[in-house]
Amino acid sequence: TRRAVVAGLGTYVPEKVLTNHDLEQMVDTSDEWIVTRTGIRERHIARDDETTSTMASEATRRALADAKITAEDLDFIVCATNTPDTIFPSTAARVQHQLTDKPIPGIDIQAGCTGLIYGMELASALIQSGAYRNILVIGADKLTSITDYQDRTTAVLFGDAAGAFVLQAKDDTEYGILGSYLQADGRGGDLLIQPAGGSLMPASHETVEARQHYLKMNGNETFRFAVKAMPEAVEEGLKRAGLGVEDMDLLVPHQANLRIIDAAVRRFELDPERVVVNIDRYGNTSVATIPLALQEARLEGRVHDGDVVVLCAFGAGLTWGSNVIRW
Ligand code: ACO
Repeated sequence: TRRAVVAGLGTYVPEKVLTNHDLEQMVDTSDEWIVTRTGIRERHIARDDETTSTMASEATRRALADAKITAEDLDFIVCATNTPDTIFPSTAARVQHQLTDKPIPGIDIQAGCTGLIYGMELASALIQSGAYRNILVIGADKLTSITDYQDRTTAVLFGDAAGAFVLQAKDDTEYGILGSYLQADGRGGDLLIQPAGGSLMPASHETVEARQHYLKMNGNETFRFAVKAMPEAVEEGLKRAGLGVEDMDLLVPHQANLRIIDAAVRRFELDPERVVVNIDRYGNTSVATIPLALQEARLEGRVHDGDVVVLCAFGAGLTWGSNVIRW
C-alpha cells in the first residue's frame, strides 16, 4: 500500500520569552497559580514583524533541510492556523511566496488546535489518492495577536510558534500515517471563540471597544471536554490503524494544560517516559504544540525506528482527533 511517510520535520520558536513573573506585572496573577493550574512556566512571543507566515516559512526551511528536498519539490501546501496573517489571501499562499517563485497549490485549514491533525489526515489522503507526492503540512499560530492581556484567565496560557512536516508518498511500506480519527461538534462552538471580525460580527468601533476581537474561552467547560476528548481520540485513532493502546510507543498530546495530559496518562496507565510534555517552556502554541513536542522528543532520542507515535489534539469547534504514525 501507498502511505504518507514523514520525510522531514522543522520547528520555529520566536526568541523573546515571557515568564510567569513578567505576567505578574501585567495582570493579577502569580507564578504559583499558573504553574499549579496549567504547568506553564514561560512562553515565547513573536515580535511585531514576525507573523504566522514568517514563522511558518522558517519552520518549513528547516523541515525541507531535514527531508533533503527543496521548496520547488513540494506539490501541495496545507497550513493549519487560527491566526492567519489575513483572513484572505491564505497563509499557505504567503508561505509559497516566501519560499519560492514557483507556484504551488495550497490551502489553510481552520480547525482550532486540532488543525494540525486535520492537515496530516488530509495530506495523507491526497498522497494515497496518487494525486500528490510531496506535501508540506504546517501548524503555525501567533496566538498572542488575539490574546487579551487584560484577561488573566487566558493571558497566561498562550505562546507563539510554528512547525512543519514534509510528508512523502512511499509504496509498499510499513512506515507512515497508519490511520487517523477526526471529529467536530459545533454545539460547543461558543466555548472557545474569536467573536468578531467575521461575517457574523463584522469589525466596527463597537466590537473593538467591547474587546470582541480577542480569543474568549470558557476554561472550565473546555477542560471538561478535553479530558474526555483526548482519550477518545487516542483510542479511536489506534483502532483505525488496527492497533490498541498497548501498541503505542509514544504519545504526543496537544499541550494546553498539564492537568489534561496527566488525566490521559492516568487513564491509560502510561509510563511518563512514553508521553511528551514541554508545556512548561512554551505554553499553548495551538497547532504548533505537537510538532514542537515531537521534535524535542526526536532530539532527545526518544523516537526510534518503527515506533508507533500517536499525535492527539482538541480545540475550538469543538474539534478533536489523532494521527497514528509508524515512525
Ligand atoms: N491567575 C490567578 N487566578 C486566576 C487566573 C490567573 N491567571 N485565572 C483565573 N483565576 C481565578 C479565577 O478567577 C477563579 O477565581 P474565583 O474562584 O475567585 O472565581 C479561580 O482562579 C479558579 O478559576 P478556574 O477557571 O476554575 O480555574 P481552573 O482550574 O479551571 O483553570 C484554566 C483555568 C487553566 C483556564 C483551565 O480551565 C484550563 O486549562 N482549561 C482548558 C483550557 C484549554 O485547554 N484550552 C484549549 C485552548 S485550545 C485553542 O484552540 C487555543
